[in-house]
Amino acid sequence: PDGQLAADVLAGMRDIPDFPEEGVVFKDFTPVLLDVQLRDRIVADTVERRRGQVDVVAGIEARGFILGAMIAHELGVGFVPVRKGGKLPAAVHSQSYTLEYGTATLEIHQDAVSHHERVLVVDDVLATGGTLAATCELIERCGASVAAIELVLEIEALAGRDKLRGYDLHCLTAA
Ligand code: PRP
Repeated sequence: PDGQLAADVLAGMRDIPDFPEEGVVFKDFTPVLLDVQLRDRIVADTVERRRGQVDVVAGIEARGFILGAMIAHELGVGFVPVRKGGKLPAAVHSQSYTLEYGTATLEIHQDAVSHHERVLVVDDVLATGGTLAATCELIERCGASVAAIELVLEIEALAGRDKLRGYDLHCLTAA
């Protein structure tokens, strides 16, 4: 593991207290996007680990779109958006899930991934794990398989990993 990358990523994240509601400390990933070198190191590290293992990248709204699209570009594979409910125009699979701060629905286009394709799931933060568990469920309902999950930061105290047992899950750093 690249300890320097983990330390730099952790230093690049920003804590925003009481967002989106009182008592929640939001882990803000946007400063990392502004740091071109750090951003490129994150993408290169992920690509090196997953090259040849995936057919398509699925990015989770909203920050998973940004990182996921960069990773898909470097891997030379397609990109699939997993969106909040009501945003995708064609026929979807829907999955409701519980967030640290409420409930939500995620959707994927039914024809976005093909049967037996190996999907790399990308997002910024693992908190309670509800978002990722719902995303994996959606991919499997399309008949595809989750080859791996790549995240920037894991909030260990919220034990999101417990909802994702059996998946090849990698987080660049933890807080
Ligand atoms: C954040 C984060 C993950 C999710 C993790 O997204 O980017 O997608 O929460 O939480 P969980 O592990 O508890 O499910 P957010 O809900 O803030 O949505 P946004 O990216 O559309 O702002």
